[in-house]
Amino acid sequence: MREHTTRKIYNVWSYFYDLFWPSIVHRRTTRAIERMCIQPGDRVLDIGVGTGLALASYPKHAKVVGIDLSEGMLRRARRRIEEHGMSWVRLTLGNALQLPFEDNVFDHVLLSHVVTVVSDPVKLIEETRRVSKPGGQVVIINHFRSSNRVFGTIEKWLCPLCQHLGWRSDLCLQELAQATGLEVDFRYKLDNMDLFQTVFITNRPASRPERQSTAA
Ligand SMILES: C[S@@+](CC[C@H](N)C(=O)[O-])C[C@H]1O[C@@H](n2cnc3c(N)ncnc32)[C@H](O)[C@@H]1O
Repeated sequence: MREHTTRKIYNVWSYFYDLFWPSIVHRRTTRAIERMCIQPGDRVLDIGVGTGLALASYPKHAKVVGIDLSEGMLRRARRRIEEHGMSWVRLTLGNALQLPFEDNVFDHVLLSHVVTVVSDPVKLIEETRRVSKPGGQVVIINHFRSSNRVFGTIEKWLCPLCQHLGWRSDLCLQELAQATGLEVDFRYKLDNMDLFQTVFITNRPASRPERQSTAA
């Protein structure tokens, strides 16, 4: 999945996104942001911020930056910021695979439904870790391939179709963690039927393995 195609797909999605997606993700992102325990003055990066659905959940005392590839999605996010007067949020157009930020800047990074959208999830995690402070918090909310053989196979089969829609369905969390050296602190689903996981990680600079690809 290449970024220029992704941008076009999400420019189109931006017209419909807020019609159905909030009901799917809102409870999950709100819960995750509450658990992030963001302190006054903390710097937060929301990668693939989309239409800014999570923005109102961040505490006003944080300094929040949202970045996205799609002008269409960002236009919606800007409108949301103006409507709610969210002066603590700044938006940037850019590619998460080449983040336009210095090293060790952010206390918290949220990757909400974006790790399966980029063409190179390993590079995304590497960039995330580069811009996160050592000991900083990385939170991933996403669907990952099921460890159940039947469901996992179906998700692999569905992947070509999903890629036309703008994401992949075959990314395995364990493989991603192995390829990037991520150590998961804890993860949870909202309930047994939840298709998405919330994964909390501390940015430990320690082990960064030889680069392995999970690119689509
Ligand atoms: C499924 S949406 C998720 C939006 C939001 N985080 C949410 O949970 O509602 C994925 C978003 O990631 C953005 N995106 C995809 N690839 C990207 C990249 N390489 N750099 C920055 N943003 C990207 C898309 O434009 C889209 O807005």
